[in-house]
Amino acid sequence: MGFNLKNRSFLTLMDFTTEEINYLLNLSAKLKADKYAGIFSKNLLNKNIALIFEKPSTRTRCAFVVAAYDEGAHPEYLGKGDIQLGKKETVADTARVLGRMFDGIQFRGFSHNTVTELAKYSGVPVWNGLTDKFHPTQVLADLLTIRENFGALKGKKLCFVGDGRNNMANSLMIGAVKMGMDFRILAPSELFPQPELVKECKRIAKETGGKITLSSNINQAVKDADVIYTDVWVSMGEEAEYEKRIALLKPFQVNSKMMKATGKKSTIFLHCLPAFHNRDTIVGEDVYQKYNLDAMEVTEDVFESSQSKVWDEAENRVHTIKAVMVATLG
Ligand code: CP
Ligand code: NVA
Repeated sequence: MGFNLKNRSFLTLMDFTTEEINYLLNLSAKLKADKYAGIFSKNLLNKNIALIFEKPSTRTRCAFVVAAYDEGAHPEYLGKGDIQLGKKETVADTARVLGRMFDGIQFRGFSHNTVTELAKYSGVPVWNGLTDKFHPTQVLADLLTIRENFGALKGKKLCFVGDGRNNMANSLMIGAVKMGMDFRILAPSELFPQPELVKECKRIAKETGGKITLSSNINQAVKDADVIYTDVWVSMGEEAEYEKRIALLKPFQVNSKMMKATGKKSTIFLHCLPAFHNRDTIVGEDVYQKYNLDAMEVTEDVFESSQSKVWDEAENRVHTIKAVMVATLG
């Protein structure tokens, strides 16, 4: 069934219904198959896309750029320090200027208010490429990867392990309940998500047949899980928190014992990336030594195992972001 998502922004997964998310996933799968077959329909020919980044990015930036070129659009990267956004010019003013020049705007940054302001004033679709609160385009790639592995989403058990109140946990919780999944957060209670968001997601779960469980008990939370998902312990902008987070999250590192505790051989491992799975990372170097760690949120053996689908997941960023741009602009 066709859905008209034209001119819609994508700030959180709350913006789309279950049917609309399904439509975006189907479109992603089609665009992926087309690309593999060498079919490029150029659905965004001559469109101009602004890519605003206050924080660094590998996957999100590259996915937007590749998807834009694949569809015939022109992406323009506007990095930190390149534009006046919020400093010499209000976000509302920048939004109105960019909206006169560009057909769509991607924003990655700190405050979620900035992305909502851009959407309010620009008059063009705005896509959230990560804020401190949400990372919705990542979740589309995650859902596509889960669907590719299990054929369906409804009823599948997804356990997010780690910082249960970060942008990934928040967004996965919304996406999972919208798709009728059994979603668990395994975290110390200090890092449980905000009660208001949990309440709203529980309301959605009632409609979709989904489920939400918050737990600090490893064996209970991962039991029968189809997907174990983790993210960094310290998100961008929270670097002062390393010591506190390591103390809280060390017992929740994803390792082979935790993977076995699902009781299923078919369980897959996902991570939005970048991941601290060994000592070969600069930011981790001092931290690893200081706290005597070989890895942080996931051990090297799990990350490199055949259960790990992180490269499919990363690739799926392109196909899903392409679907979002094509559906809202094409
Ligand atoms: N997963 C993700 O958003 O990666 P980047 O920070 O590299 O964009
Ligand atoms: N929670 C992480 C996600 C990175 C893609 C962060 O915000 O840094």
